[in-house]
Amino acid sequence: MRDRTLQHDNPSHWPKDDMTPKAERARSGGQAARTAVEIVLDHAGYAIEGKPVLRDLSFAVAVDRLGVVGRNGSGKSTLARLVAGLIAPGEGSCRVNGLDLARDRKSAPREVGILFQNPDHQLIFPTVLEEMMFGLRQRGQSRSDAEAGARRVLANFGKDHWTDASVVSLSQGQKHLLCLMAVVAMAPRLLILDEPFAGLDAPTRTQLRRYLDLYDGAVLHISHDPADFAGYDAMFWLDQGQIRASGTPETVLAGYTKEMTRLGAEDDISDLAG
Ligand SMILES: Nc1ncnc2c1ncn2[C@@H]1O[C@H](COP(=O)(O)OP(=O)(O)O)[C@@H](O)[C@H]1O
Ligand SMILES: [Mg+2]
Repeated sequence: MRDRTLQHDNPSHWPKDDMTPKAERARSGGQAARTAVEIVLDHAGYAIEGKPVLRDLSFAVAVDRLGVVGRNGSGKSTLARLVAGLIAPGEGSCRVNGLDLARDRKSAPREVGILFQNPDHQLIFPTVLEEMMFGLRQRGQSRSDAEAGARRVLANFGKDHWTDASVVSLSQGQKHLLCLMAVVAMAPRLLILDEPFAGLDAPTRTQLRRYLDLYDGAVLHISHDPADFAGYDAMFWLDQGQIRASGTPETVLAGYTKEMTRLGAEDDISDLAG
């Protein structure tokens, strides 16, 4: 049986011992061992220009595959940035594996890696190898170690032949895979995906999902595609900066899909913001 720990109602019910943060856990399939990550938010809030974007968020999870859904503007990307430590909560706290990553920037690259929606915002180097080496060099690896590490990941993904390819020559799906490989090369304990595969065609999404499935760290995946959450441990539905529902993908997605269908029948697109 796989562990599932997901509570968000009452922070006083989160004694550390109940978090079941088992380091290595066998997959139900019995093949690769994945490492669970602990994410604990305690009354976390975040406002942008005085407008609350995340409101009094409290939850504690210890899972290796966590999904997040929610409408546009519900605060998903802000939550991703908060968990990655790119922003600090205005109120309350956010900890990943017990660390406050907004303060502890030194630990951040080892703990979290984040993949954004647009690979063009992430890719800055002319060749695949240089792109892959960059993060490793940033972490203080020598040129030769970084190159060896980058080549190892390319080989693991069966993409040795990409090594000297120019980044601009890659297709959109290939650029996404390059971003994924560059983040994987850093081997973060938690990989945060902020709708990275939205806008890709179905076969490319399926292929990338297969690569993701092999990742032995934890994954927090924000997506609008229910298929992305197959086999996931737990999910949140974020609504106006708060958790509207949490639980298994089956239950959360059933409620979410029903609500989205209901809203789709309405016409709030014609309403102007007041
Ligand atoms: N840089 C920003 N300036 C002003 N408002 C922002 C900014 N970033 C996000 N917001 C607002 O915060 C809310 C949540 O945004 P976001 O976290 O990006 O939601 P999601 O990823 O779910 O679409 C939205 O109402 C958005 O307009
Ligand atoms: Mg977003």
